Amino acid sequence: MSSGSQPIKITFRPGFTVARSLRSLEKALEEIQARELRLALVPTMGYLHEGHLSLVDVARQHADVVALSIFVNPLQFGEGEDLDRYPRDMERDVKLAMERGVGLVFAPPREEMYPGGEPVVTVDPGSLATRLCGQYRPGHFHGVVTVVAKLFGLLRPQVAVFGRKDYQQAVLIRRMVQDLNLPVEIQVGPLVREPDGLAMSSRNAYLSAQERAQAVGLHQALKAADAAFRQGEGRPEQLLDRARAVLDAHPLLRPQYLELVDPETLEPLEEAREGSVLAVAAHCGSTRLIDNLILGAARSEGGEG
Ligand code: PAF
Repeated sequence: MSSGSQPIKITFRPGFTVARSLRSLEKALEEIQARELRLALVPTMGYLHEGHLSLVDVARQHADVVALSIFVNPLQFGEGEDLDRYPRDMERDVKLAMERGVGLVFAPPREEMYPGGEPVVTVDPGSLATRLCGQYRPGHFHGVVTVVAKLFGLLRPQVAVFGRKDYQQAVLIRRMVQDLNLPVEIQVGPLVREPDGLAMSSRNAYLSAQERAQAVGLHQALKAADAAFRQGEGRPEQLLDRARAVLDAHPLLRPQYLELVDPETLEPLEEAREGSVLAVAAHCGSTRLIDNLILGAARSEGGEG
């Protein structure tokens, strides 16, 4: 694993740039703007996996050049969370990004992003941030939307792509762009799963073999509720009970929440509909995992990855 400030040892392909400072980012952007190329941004915290790389594929469909940012944003980690141990491997990330067709990697050290320490003026994510994960991670979405707004300001992309695994994050970012009239189009890419169904996440690297075997219970729980919905069950409590039964059969999973919510407002529903979102968060050992499923969505529609 390499730290954020170590040199990166890879052979670059022509036209591929790694910017580690705002100055080198500006230089790369000048070239993109001079050539009137459409720029897409895929914001990440690194330790890339197929989930991130599939967002690069989506980005490539919407732009001429794809920029991928790698920044473990301290603002979105709470007290006692995993900021210091968050997995990092810059050299591997840069190689994977380059191989997938990214043209520009922006990987600033913390001092470049927050030269004066914590920013004084930040973005308030409002009431949507108090739902689901926000109940258990106070301040998290405040940090997320603030850094995303900053990345939009720095890179000025025409398009930005976020993953559906972080469903609440994607809803909040769409809402920020809408409410603040930010000139960027938001695309949400599919949720990518391991062959057994576990949602891909950089944090899966923390799981022991035993935990990894039980982590798949999250997806199985969501699928059980979806199966009941497809058989005609529309009562949220009955659907959640189906999911709870599966979670209970995985003793290493300690659920934080399991909710059936409206896809836009994230408010709990009185009746399940096609398109309602079933969202779950649970600790597996010391690792916090999240997952979600869109009720009734067909795989072919990209609803359920
Ligand atoms: O989803 C993530 O990895 C992060 O929350 C993001 C959007 C890169 C902001 O730090």
